[in-house]
Order: sequence, then C-alpha cells, then structure tokens
Amino acid sequence: MDIGTVMNTMRDPAGVPAHPVLFQGLMVITWVLHIAFVHLTLGAAGLAIYSFYQRGKGPFWGRLSMAMTKVAKVGVSLLIVLGVAPLLFTQVIYDPQWYVSNVLSGRWVIAFIFTLIVGYCSWFIFYYANHEGAKRYMGIFAWVALALFCLDGLIMHALSYQELLPAQWMNWYAPNGVVDTSGSSLHAIQWPRYVFIMSLSLPAVGVFLIAYAHYFATRADREPEYRQYVRSLGQRLAVWGFAFSLIPFLFWQFAHPDGSGLAAHPIGWGLALSLIGMLVWTKRLKAHTNGYLPVVGGFGVLALLALWREIVRIAHLKPLGYDIATYTVHVDWPSTLLFFSTFVGVGGLVGGFYLTLLYRAGRVQGLYTADRSVARLGTGAVAVLGLWIAVFFVYGIVIWLRNSFV
Ligand code: HEM
Repeated sequence: MDIGTVMNTMRDPAGVPAHPVLFQGLMVITWVLHIAFVHLTLGAAGLAIYSFYQRGKGPFWGRLSMAMTKVAKVGVSLLIVLGVAPLLFTQVIYDPQWYVSNVLSGRWVIAFIFTLIVGYCSWFIFYYANHEGAKRYMGIFAWVALALFCLDGLIMHALSYQELLPAQWMNWYAPNGVVDTSGSSLHAIQWPRYVFIMSLSLPAVGVFLIAYAHYFATRADREPEYRQYVRSLGQRLAVWGFAFSLIPFLFWQFAHPDGSGLAAHPIGWGLALSLIGMLVWTKRLKAHTNGYLPVVGGFGVLALLALWREIVRIAHLKPLGYDIATYTVHVDWPSTLLFFSTFVGVGGLVGGFYLTLLYRAGRVQGLYTADRSVARLGTGAVAVLGLWIAVFFVYGIVIWLRNSFV
C-alpha cells in the first residue's frame, strides 16, 4: 500500500462539516495569533533577563526588566490559549499527519505539557522575585523558564516537521524492522526553520517596545525620557532582529527538497522581502510615526510566514497523494452557523469589550472610569454570553430529546 492511500485511509470517516479550505484558512489565520504571542513572550523574556542583569548600569533597566517580566507572564497564557485554535483546525484537515507525528514522539508530547508547566512556574517565581533590590541569583529561574519555553518550541517544530515526511514514518516506527513504540525520539528537526521562526522573537519585542512607548504617551508616570529610551531600544532591536532573522531564513530557503519548486516560490521570497522591508522601515522610522504601525507591519510578516508554512506543507504532501480538497464533506449547517456566530458574537463582542476596556484603562493613571460606549459594550458582552449559553443548552437538549424520544 502506498503512503498516500495510508494517509487517506487514516482520515476521520465522519468527514468534515464544511469545505476543507475554510478550515485551512482559519488554521493559517489563527496560527498567526499563536506565533505572535510566542514571539512576544520569548522576546520579552529574553529582554527581561538581559535588563535584569543590567540594573546597575542605568536608571531604566530595572524598570524595563520588571515590565517585560509582566509582558512575558501574560504572553505565555495567551500563546497557550491562542495555540488551541490552530491545533483544532490542524486536527480537522491534517489529522493523519498530526496524530502519527504525535504518536511517534509520544513521550515528548507528554513532556511538552510538563516542561511548559515547570517553565511557567519558574517564570512566576522570577516574576515575584523581580522587584527593586532583587537578588541576582533569582535570575536562574528566568533562565530555566526561557530554556524550557525554547524546548517546547522545538517539540512543536519537530511535530510540525515530522508531519511533512510521511515517507519516513515506517523507518521511525520500526527502525530496521524492529517496532519501537517508546515515542522517545524527536525524529526530524530542520534547524534553519526552527531557528528562523524563533529568531523573529527579537524584532517582535522591538516593534512591541515602539508600540509600548506610544501607548504610554498619555501617562505622566511614564516620563518622556523613559519612553524615548524604550522606543530607541525597540528600534535597535527591530532593525538587528530583522537583519539577523534573514540568515536562518536563507538557510531554510535552500534546504527545501529538490524538485519541490519551493526554493524559487514567490511567497518564500516575498517573506524575505518583507523582512528587508521591515528592517529598512524600522531603521528610518520618524519620531512622529505612529508607534503601532510597526506592529501592524510585523503581523504582515507573520501572515506571510503562516501562508508560507502551509505552502511548504502542501508541496510535501500533495505529491504523495494527500490533498485536503478531497476530504469527505458532510455539510452540517447548524454547527457551522453556531461556530461562526460564536466567533463573531462572543469573540467579537466579549473579546472586543475586554480589549477596549484594557486598552483604555491602561492609558489612565490611577482610577479609570468607563465612558458610556464602553459601558454599553460591557452590557452587550454580558447579553451575548447569556444568549450563547441559552442557545448552547437549548440546542443540546433538543438533540438529546430528538434522539431519545422521536
Ligand atoms: C512555550 C510554548 C510554545 C512555543 C515556544 C511554541 C512555538 C511554536 C513554534 C516555533 C511553532 C512552529 C513550528 C514550525 O513550523 O516548525 C509552533 C507551531 C504550533 N503550535 Fe506552538 N508553541 C508553544 C506552545 C503551544 C501550545 C500550548 C499549543 C496548543 C495549545 C501550540 C500549538 C501550536 C500549533 C497547532 C502549531 C502548528 C502545528 C502545525 O502546523 O501542524 N503551541 N509553535
């Protein structure tokens, strides 16, 4: 049996509830959000550690270290939450590849959870320790956390990359004909790809700092000298970060399999151009340029990266006979409708309320009083949540009654 037939046989026989391209699009888009917070977290964690050790060398390092420690603390929780969506979409259209890859490295998948927990706990210890007069040796907790987060990224990378190499699965499952069910190996790592994706943490924290300086412009307790300092540090990190990331990217670009057409693909080179574009732009950034714009540009780079990953995946799997377009579709309008109305209603209104509230509250020093528009948004968010819970239960109860009594 050829590997294409094997992969297609392993698909969920229930099929998918809407056209697979819909899930593919959602997977790509939601992964952008996941990786944005991976980058922000790793970049902020790295900077928090660096500035922690620079505290004696200037007035702002200690303050910056504490701020970045908080950013990374919140970032981890967001990268986890935002990782769930692409995980679910991957499992919908690439279930054979994802599950095989996970089973082949089962111990690492379980270790991923534990290392993430230990890493996050270590970061919290550092967070509690990192205040004025903090002991230098407490920095070790931050190092442990950062190292574990990088390991988690490596596990994620290996799982993603092993998915692309079905022709090798049998060798990994039964090397030399002897079955190995231990799941104790990470079988394939493509270092340039891993280093490139992780290296984007450097420019990410750079563009974040530029936005940070802009955001706090309304607060007297973040004086202009501090903001200027943060902004120019951010600018330097962005410029150097985009320049550095080009190196592993080029290595990755020339590591694609011969005959796949990937080395000359315009999207890959478009990604390289976007890095150069960001480099030049952040270098020439004017003092009056809106500080949020580089973040918007950064999201553009990540959108290209997400698209590029998907093109790379298709180029690996299609020649072997796996094409998501041939996934069996059993259209299920009620669940599709429920999904999108949840996305727009709960995601848009509740998420929108939280974001607006946090954004505005953070720009005010001392007590923040919400104006009428925010209060209305809050009422709308509670109402839509109530409606959502009601629909959820009514829908479930109706199906249960129909199945039991009709
Ligand atoms: C510190 C923790 C984490 C780090 C550093 C991290 C980093 C990464 C990196 C670097 C990739 C891209 C790998 C590649 O394309 O080569 C990736 C992909 C991914 N991550 Fe994470 N991640 C973390 C946690 C999580 C968590 C907790 C989830 C799920 C809840 C998650 C879900 C995903 C998914 C679904 C993908 C894409 C897999 C695919 O394309 O098939 N990640 N992550």
